[in-house]
Amino acid sequence: MDRLKPYLSEHQERFIKELLELLKYPSVSADPAFSQDVLNTADAVADALRQAGCDAVEVCDTRGYPIVYGEKVVDPSLPTILVYGHYDVQPPDPLGLWKSPPFEPVIRETELHPEGAIYARGASDDKGQMYMHIKALECMVRTHSLPCNVKFMIEGEEEVGSSSLEAFLKENRGKLANDIILISDTGMIAKDVPSVTTGLRGLSYVEVTVTGANRDLHSGLYGGAVANPINVLAKMIASLHDADNRVTIPGFYDRVVELSAKERALMAEAPFDLEAYKKALDIDAVYGEKGYTTNERNAIRPTLDVNGIWGGYTGEGAKTVIPGQAHAKISMRLVPNQDWHEITELFTRHFKSLAPAGVRVEVRPHHGGQAYVTPIDHIGYLAASKAYETTFGTRPVPHRGGGSIPIVPLFERELGSKTILMGFGLDSDAIHSPNEHFGVWNYLKGIETIPYFYHYYTELAKG
Ligand code: BES
Ligand code: MN
Ligand code: MN
Repeated sequence: MDRLKPYLSEHQERFIKELLELLKYPSVSADPAFSQDVLNTADAVADALRQAGCDAVEVCDTRGYPIVYGEKVVDPSLPTILVYGHYDVQPPDPLGLWKSPPFEPVIRETELHPEGAIYARGASDDKGQMYMHIKALECMVRTHSLPCNVKFMIEGEEEVGSSSLEAFLKENRGKLANDIILISDTGMIAKDVPSVTTGLRGLSYVEVTVTGANRDLHSGLYGGAVANPINVLAKMIASLHDADNRVTIPGFYDRVVELSAKERALMAEAPFDLEAYKKALDIDAVYGEKGYTTNERNAIRPTLDVNGIWGGYTGEGAKTVIPGQAHAKISMRLVPNQDWHEITELFTRHFKSLAPAGVRVEVRPHHGGQAYVTPIDHIGYLAASKAYETTFGTRPVPHRGGGSIPIVPLFERELGSKTILMGFGLDSDAIHSPNEHFGVWNYLKGIETIPYFYHYYTELAKG
């Protein structure tokens, strides 16, 4: 173990350069215009795995973008860690708000990152965090300190719902067999407050269309006499929350597990500065479900949010028109025990029932996933805790994350394994936003910490 740190120090400049190269690929899975770039990225990841010391590397075809698989089996009797990550990224728009182009990575110093931060789409979510694992493997292989077997599964459709993964898991159970899954695709509380994500929310994502007349109409000739789909849609959406900001869909909360007072008290111990939170977002007040704190609202409570809404005339100047249609994209974040298929059903039934005469309503489900929880007495959690303690000098705080990684509950169902979420990003990384970045310090700290997870996990698993 003591050769790891010197190896990392000696090679860190190259590790940074390699990540910058990977970030140049515009692997936007949502936009077919980038499909060749996404495929090229898969090949680049495969090469990186080979160079880091994986024996069997394959770019596995799926119905969508390929899954890159690699493994290094030291001894079949030792534990096996499966590392999951994704090489696809979110679309970079709105492009105009980027200080430097999203696929021309640069390092800039900031107040929070005096060591520099890497600015590029995917820097934190998830190329930078995924690449930490490849470099951690290189460190372990080259210093002869890999204590167990490792498998990598790096996919290219995470940001669009991982639709090929379920089939891939079902068809490759043997190949993917493992004792524990390790993922860095979440964040930590602060640079001096390491945390392990112990929960993820589920998701149901739908698109709705309200249709009125069979064409756009003159708003003077017809205004007041026929339903305006945008007016109607706005009213329907507004009715989805009550005065306490609770979701009004009948049955929405039926299966929600309420946390005990003790669990809530424990959660409240995690350091959180509400004033700093508001300041960072330039808001004068937070907003949300009555009776819950900000950290509870964004982690253990289900939500409903409009992600996009459009229709009618949005160009320059004014055009007097009653649009024929109005559209919205709506996401619901879910918590343990809510079933995303059931919630999608409840939403659909309720939303359609809200439609007044004179319009038609269509609801089209996109994708979804279940929520997930890792118990903090699991040996994977304990190994992560010891790893952070070694490299950060302080024990990590267990933290429920508000985001979703639908593959995690699927891993549990299909492969029977628990997942440990060791995120090294920060909320301020601006993932999915313009100017996404990842601290150089965070990147290197991740590479330093991961081998200790391997070490402690192997030790604990051997009993
Ligand atoms: N890495 C994120 C999820 C995440 C980020 C979880 C931070 C917790 C903290 C992932 O890439 C993501 O964006 N997931 C999507 C869901 C997916 C189905 C599109 C999300 O949460 O919106
Ligand atoms: Mn991600
Ligand atoms: Mn993402």
